[in-house]
Amino acid sequence: MARIAVIGTGYVGLTTGACFAHLGHDVVCADIDEAKVASLRAGEIPIVERNLDRFVHEGIASGKLSFVVGAAEASKDCEFHYLCVPTPQGADGAADLSFLETAAAQIAPVLPTGSVVVNKSTVPVGSTGLVASVMGRNDVEVVSNPEFLREGSAIDDFLNPDRVVIGARDQEAAIRVAGLYSRVRAPVMVTDPISAETIKYASNAFLASKLSFVNAIANLCEAVGADVNDVVLGMGYDKRIGKEFLRPGPGWGGSCFPKDTIALAKIAEDAGYEFSFLREVLKVNDEQFDRTAAKVIAALGDDPSSKQVACWGLTFKAGTDDLRQSPAIEVMKRVAASGVSIRAYDPVISGPLADLPDAEIVSDPYAATDGAAVLVVLTEWDEFRWLDFDKVAGNMASTTVVDARNLLDRTQLERRGFDYRGIGR
Ligand code: UGA
Repeated sequence: MARIAVIGTGYVGLTTGACFAHLGHDVVCADIDEAKVASLRAGEIPIVERNLDRFVHEGIASGKLSFVVGAAEASKDCEFHYLCVPTPQGADGAADLSFLETAAAQIAPVLPTGSVVVNKSTVPVGSTGLVASVMGRNDVEVVSNPEFLREGSAIDDFLNPDRVVIGARDQEAAIRVAGLYSRVRAPVMVTDPISAETIKYASNAFLASKLSFVNAIANLCEAVGADVNDVVLGMGYDKRIGKEFLRPGPGWGGSCFPKDTIALAKIAEDAGYEFSFLREVLKVNDEQFDRTAAKVIAALGDDPSSKQVACWGLTFKAGTDDLRQSPAIEVMKRVAASGVSIRAYDPVISGPLADLPDAEIVSDPYAATDGAAVLVVLTEWDEFRWLDFDKVAGNMASTTVVDARNLLDRTQLERRGFDYRGIGR
């Protein structure tokens, strides 16, 4: 079993650390935030992530998982060093690598000879080389091992991945990193670092493209009178297309797809290739926010500024408390511009929200519907499906539902007298 330092305790770092400890390795997780380290040591998990608390508690109890302040403190006794620091979007669309460079510079002087530094953060093509040059250590290998972890199911994705990708110039370093995953059943693919980094961006950009395509098909379905739910079901039976990632919605978001799709377009531009296809994928997504907001405003009828909208769901998808680049927020910002009052409910969010300063955030889904002219569903939280819609109807001023996730049971709602408006049907 190996001794692994994990630098950065965001959802990627924390999941990586907790899962490696679960697989039997000795893991030291580092963060620069002293208060965060103190609460992690006490077993407090700062994010909503299924099973993460259980895995962290198990790791602490078995002594396999510990937390320290500072990258160098974690790295000084380890043979593997996972860089899991943020790479936010910079002003020009390219990823900002300052956290990565700082972490690399901090660990460089303390790395034991023969250790392997692993980039798990999503980094632009060529960053493995950049980390090596920042560190300036000939006795240490730098390897790329991109993450494919979805928020909300990150633990499961780590332990049951579709593949493990390792990008290394040195065969022995690749074999050593592959060994860390020996208890995980998945194909391990070894390639060069630049190809591994490209696999990460290409995968996210492909999935984002799939969603923009499906949202465009939903819009077409509305124009021609088809039902997108049936259309994607019929498409998904074709194994070459697959059933996953075909749910239309208010647009896609989160901390990864928007940032990585913009970054890949910029990487291509800098390398002399104009990836206009990706620009269109991003444009279709922006238009989807606009279209969904327009649907809500149209449902309000005349004089929207005198009316109340109830909003269910604020996070960028169900199963997380992450609001970054949330389609729900994007849509409601556009709706708010029409002057309506907004009362919103999300199972894991309490207000106020900087991006929706005038919205009232309530702690009960029914309270959100009080006096509302329109109810809009923007995040696919399963609990919304099981609410008492007679009670909802009784609360509302008029019973129109814009279901931007096609989550609710249309027939049931129509039977109760609701005017139901989904996406692409
Ligand atoms: C995404 C990728 O799925 C992960 O493989 C990747 O590791 C991660 O980014 C990352 O780069 O770190 P995540 O951002 O957690 O994961 O979210 P997804 O589950 O991919 O959803 C992204 C957006 O697409 C959400 O707004 C979601 O609601 C939307 N979506 C997803 C749909 O509208 N329809 C679908 O069928 C699926």
